[in-house]
Amino acid sequence: MPVVRGKNIEILYSPEAIASRNRDMAEEIMRGPHKDLLVISILKGSFIFAADLIRAMHGAGLAPEVEFITLSSYGTGTESKGVKITKDIDSDVHNRDVLLIDDILESGRTLRFAKDLLYERGARHVTVAVLLDKRMKRRVDLEADYVGFECPDHFVVGYGMDVAYAFRELPFVGVVTGDAE
Ligand code: IMP
Ligand code: MG
Repeated sequence: MPVVRGKNIEILYSPEAIASRNRDMAEEIMRGPHKDLLVISILKGSFIFAADLIRAMHGAGLAPEVEFITLSSYGTGTESKGVKITKDIDSDVHNRDVLLIDDILESGRTLRFAKDLLYERGARHVTVAVLLDKRMKRRVDLEADYVGFECPDHFVVGYGMDVAYAFRELPFVGVVTGDAE
């Protein structure tokens, strides 16, 4: 079991498993709406997944433009009350097909907010790709069009995802199981 920062990390999804799913998802995206395609990576968590998925999309024959948006949720303690834009995209999305990329779909609040925002701005189709779906945690009506893996109800780290700003650099997705000996 890998040890990082003195913690044991159990691997849930290996680099090879993730790369294989990314190739499959890129083929699925190729079969969806992609006219004048704009990919929007939701920061910070999705930066590694987005980087790999857009290269897999190139392999599938797609040539998207790429943008970034930083969204954060606010509210008290663990219960999120809303989502706000910390840093917006620069592009006009009017009449474009947009693919939103995020790391994890949980309550659905982040992606519901982002999807509504882009439709309000005149996007033609807005589809959603997530690496992980925690379906049991859904609180609002939002389903992803492309899902890497159905994720068990664990707090996961790695492949862009953090706990207290740590572990984003790991090339796999894992769960912190405790202190290393
Ligand atoms: P929601 O769907 O609006 O509840 O938000 C999902 C967001 O919460 C993701 O984009 C992540 O940033 C964060 N998140 C949820 N679960 C985890 C986890 O297990 N590890 C790291 N971040 C998580
Ligand atoms: Mg996030």
